[in-house]
Amino acid sequence: MKNAIIIGASSGIGKGISLELLKNRYKIAISARREERLNEIKKNNPDNVLVYPFDSSTEKNDKLISSMINDLGDVDLIIYCSGIGIINKELEYLKDKKVNNLNVMGFNQVATYSFNYFQKRGGGHFVNISSVASEIGNGLATSYNASKAFQANYLQGLRFKAFKLKLPIFLTDVRPGFVDTDILMGNKDKLFWVAPLDKACYQIMSGIKSKKKILYVTKRWKIISLLIKLLPENILRLFFR
Ligand SMILES: NC(=O)c1ccc[n+]([C@@H]2O[C@H](COP(=O)([O-])OP(=O)(O)OC[C@H]3O[C@@H](n4cnc5c(N)ncnc54)[C@H](OP(=O)(O)O)[C@@H]3O)[C@@H](O)[C@H]2O)c1
Repeated sequence: MKNAIIIGASSGIGKGISLELLKNRYKIAISARREERLNEIKKNNPDNVLVYPFDSSTEKNDKLISSMINDLGDVDLIIYCSGIGIINKELEYLKDKKVNNLNVMGFNQVATYSFNYFQKRGGGHFVNISSVASEIGNGLATSYNASKAFQANYLQGLRFKAFKLKLPIFLTDVRPGFVDTDILMGNKDKLFWVAPLDKACYQIMSGIKSKKKILYVTKRWKIISLLIKLLPENILRLFFR
């Protein structure tokens, strides 16, 4: 049996991936703040789920991952799914800080701990859920898109590092477009190409199995990514806020 860690497993994509991993016979250690949601996952799989209530926007993610690894024994897959987005029309620093504490600093701690652990272990697989938003700015949720750019760029740096070290450490950057989860804050009907959660998580699980470097979910979001790369900013600003 293989062991995996999922940070941000209490709802949405993290919960969906956790269920996919259980279907694929993994033993999992899961964390997020809402303990009761994590226990719902454990209820149907008491022997294969370890629960760790935790706020990843604090500075103690290294202790969390370390105790998860100790309890599981050995881990070859770590997935960071925790994330928030805040609409910040007034451009208030404290709102940006809240986003950055989780999407930048929390991610950063989990990524460095995971990479160093896999380096000592001789290999492993780290997966982060960034976003297509990593590829363009956003005037309404400036820190969200910027934090996702940090994640995507950081993961590419780790891929270069793994290559130089000649170690089988795999880094997968999952870039969803829109997926039907709580993060859409009830705006599903105003958006386009919103993927059902189960379809998105099935595609993410397939991408994890094939150790993809960058995975667009659903695949058609690669078209938007190409447009973002091709079009000049004075055209893009007409379509993006
Ligand atoms: N859904 C989309 O359209 C979409 C598109 C692109 C990227 N993404 C990314 O996908 C990831 C998962 O989001 P989702 O769509 O599945 O939304 P979600 O259902 O709101 O899930 C967010 C997860 O993050 C956890 N989280 C939030 N604050 C936390 C904190 N302080 N400490 C630890 N965990 C925390 C939540 O758990 P608790 O609240 O219990 O702590 C929850 O498990 C995010 O990084 C998001 O940016 C989503």
